[in-house]
Order: sequence, then structure tokens, then C-alpha cells
Amino acid sequence: MRPRLETKRLVLRLAEPLEAHLVVDYLDRNRAHLARWEPDPPPGFYTEAYWRERIHQLRREEDEGRLVRVHMFERGARDARVVGTIGLSNIVRGAFHNAHLGFGLDGALEGHGYMREALEAMIEYAFGPLELHRLEANHQPHNLRSAGLLRRLGFVPTGYARDYLHIDGTWRDHVQTALINDRWRKSSRSS
Ligand SMILES: CC(C)(COP(=O)(O)OP(=O)(O)OC[C@H]1O[C@@H](n2cnc3c(N)ncnc32)[C@H](O)[C@@H]1OP(=O)(O)O)[C@@H](O)C(=O)NCCC(=O)NCCS
Repeated sequence: MRPRLETKRLVLRLAEPLEAHLVVDYLDRNRAHLARWEPDPPPGFYTEAYWRERIHQLRREEDEGRLVRVHMFERGARDARVVGTIGLSNIVRGAFHNAHLGFGLDGALEGHGYMREALEAMIEYAFGPLELHRLEANHQPHNLRSAGLLRRLGFVPTGYARDYLHIDGTWRDHVQTALINDRWRKSSRSS
């Protein structure tokens, strides 16, 4: 299931392989901005060839129900531009129906509510059509923007993970938070 979600200012969808250059442009513009918060990039990360192949791989993993990834595009923009990403990864079904939520926004657009707008739509999708029961989102203790955003969306702290992710050259502690889908009902996906 591959979503295309529209909000007031944004379109959320996985970029096409032919749009790999737009993904690279976003990552390149935001290298320094994202380096403090996102896992160390693999070799080739800033090349179109890497993203053409990676988008195909993301499609396959999405078809297998393992993840959902969207790029954020500005709605109605004359020239398409990626301004952020959101991922639901490690989707586990069985008795769990849980995913890890990750996100990043163009540094130039911080402070305008774009990510909140996008995440509200993504959570609606995760708890609606995707029928997840729980989303987990983890942030470094000093990532105050991420912490504030998650709190405003209703995520609550569930724990503290020491040396949780290798980011910007070393292991970083993370605050763990989660959001529960109180509307969850047993369905065909649950069995
Ligand atoms: C985390 C991150 C997505 C937060 O972005 P953000 O723009 O601060 O988040 P929001 O969408 O919630 O916007 C909130 C801000 O927009 C303002 N705002 C303006 N118009 C708004 C509107 N219409 N609706 C809501 N907020 C609005 C709010 O007042 C708030 O401003 P403030 O931070 O100056 O108080 C961004 O900082 C980022 O990408 N960081 C790097 C990557 C990262 O940390 N990823 C997460 C790893 S855990």
C-alpha cells in the first residue's frame, strides 16, 4: 500500500526513481542540518544512482508491508522540490502492530508548522488504512524541536535508551516516546 496524502500545504508521497535528483538536492541542501540528528549516511548516499536504486528497494519493502516512506513536496509549487521526509519503519504485526516513526524537515522551513501538518496526516494514515496500534518515536535528549513536536502530537515518554543510535560519529542516547491508537479494532490484518 503506497500512500499519496494531501494536506493544506503539502503532498506526501514516495519520490519516483526519476525524481532521485530531487531527493539528492534536499539531502545536499540539508547536510549540516540533518547530520546532528540522523544516522550516519551509507556510501553513495548523496548520489542519484544510490537513490534510484533505494527508491526501488523502498517500493519492494513497502509492498511487503515492512515500511512506509514519503517525501514531502510543496503543494502547487511550479518546480517540484523535496522539503522533508517521513518514515514508518520496522512495521511488526502479530500482537504488536507497531512501527518506528522518523522524520526530517528542510532547515529553511523550520518554525512554520510544516512537519506538524505532515505528521498529523501520516498518523491518520498509520492509525487508519495501515491499522497500526502504536507508533514509537525516539529523539536525542537535546533535540528540543523534535521533543516539542512529538509532545504536541500526543506522544508520551516511555523510556530512556542509552547509546541507542550511531549518529554523527558516536553512539547517542535517545528518549523513547510512543503514541497509542485508541480507535484500533481487530481486523483481517490482525490475524
Ligand atoms: C524536528 C523538526 C521536524 C521540527 O520542525 P519544526 O518546524 O520545528 O516543527 P513544527 O512543524 O512542529 O513547527 C513548529 C513551529 O512552527 C510554528 N508555526 C508557525 N505556523 C504554524 C502553524 N500553522 N501550525 C503549527 N505551528 C506553526 C510554531 O510556533 C513552532 O515554532 P517555534 O518552534 O519557533 O516555537 C525539525 O527541526 C527537523 O527536521 N530537525 C532535524 C531532523 C530531526 O531532528 N528529526 C527528528 C529526529 S528524532
